Amino acid sequence: MELKPSGSLKIDTFSMRIGDIEGVELDRLHALSLSVGWPHRAEDWQFVRQSGQGFVALDEIGRVLGSAMWFAHGTDFATVGMVITSPRLQTLGAGQWLMKRVFENVVGRDLRLNATRAARRLYLSLGFQPEKTVFQCQGIARAQTSVGAAGIRGDIRRLSPSDIPAAIALDAAAFGVRRAALIERLFAHSAGYGLFKGDTLNAFALCRPFGRGHVVGPVVAETDADAVAIVRPHVADRSGSFLRIDTHMDNGEFAAFLSHIGLPVYDTVLTMSLGRRLPDFVIGGATTLTTYALASQTLG
Ligand SMILES: CC(C)(COP(=O)(O)OP(=O)(O)OC[C@H]1O[C@@H](n2cnc3c(N)ncnc32)[C@H](O)[C@@H]1OP(=O)(O)O)[C@@H](O)C(=O)NCCC(=O)NCCS
Repeated sequence: MELKPSGSLKIDTFSMRIGDIEGVELDRLHALSLSVGWPHRAEDWQFVRQSGQGFVALDEIGRVLGSAMWFAHGTDFATVGMVITSPRLQTLGAGQWLMKRVFENVVGRDLRLNATRAARRLYLSLGFQPEKTVFQCQGIARAQTSVGAAGIRGDIRRLSPSDIPAAIALDAAAFGVRRAALIERLFAHSAGYGLFKGDTLNAFALCRPFGRGHVVGPVVAETDADAVAIVRPHVADRSGSFLRIDTHMDNGEFAAFLSHIGLPVYDTVLTMSLGRRLPDFVIGGATTLTTYALASQTLG
């Protein structure tokens, strides 16, 4: 007897369990981020996993169908990122479920994240407030010797491990929270340039392999001109290859510089926060230092 299969098949919804992200093979995490079109390599997952904590959603046979992470700094702040649910699960409540598990672990902390368009509604429903747009600028870098080359206020030098404490202090003044362990880990994976006046570090920019090429960030400086001056040598190093910078700057010399060097705006995400706003988002804040580029959308 020949059975003709029907044209459709109803699959029951299945149950999921929560797991620690720590024990999961990197290639399974990589497959999850590929399923939503993210550029992360297995190495990029390894870096974020070393930098924070998180959960995965697993189905009955151990497939990874979702993830959510947090990156704690000090005792009262964390960023949230790598929030993904597999396309076949989306809009069924798995994102909410994962975020609520994260919330249980960050009680008492102010939170910040960078929300994709797909995630905005989820975060709004969890009480996050919109702060600022992030411009994801990327492309094939073109070294531009003329732009921003004049009037550099100091010496540009390659950073070494001895500059880490000064970079941590500048980052903390700009970001509003001290991220010592993260900056130290970023140094280990990055090339860095700093703007020095004498022996004092006044601005810095790191650049590391990420996704399709390299990412420049964080970039911390007092002025657009200083930020351009410390990003320029990275652009020269990476000229002709894929480079990315995530920035809150929507106009001014730094934003114009990014399009001159071949990194137009590719996409935007929205920085959102839950709890206290950080000083760099408060108009007239005390600091003169600004985070010109994020470490990454995930890390802030
Ligand atoms: C963003 C993402 C994690 C959301 O996960 P999810 O499993 O779909 O989330 P949920 O099902 O829990 O939905 C949460 C809320 O968003 C709403 N929602 C989700 N997708 C929606 C859609 N496409 N259109 C309208 N509303 C949507 C849900 O109705 C729910 O709203 P409610 O709380 O008011 O009921 C998922 O879409 C995803 O992985 N996208 C790709 C990767 C990404 O952008 N990650 C975010 C990084 S910041």
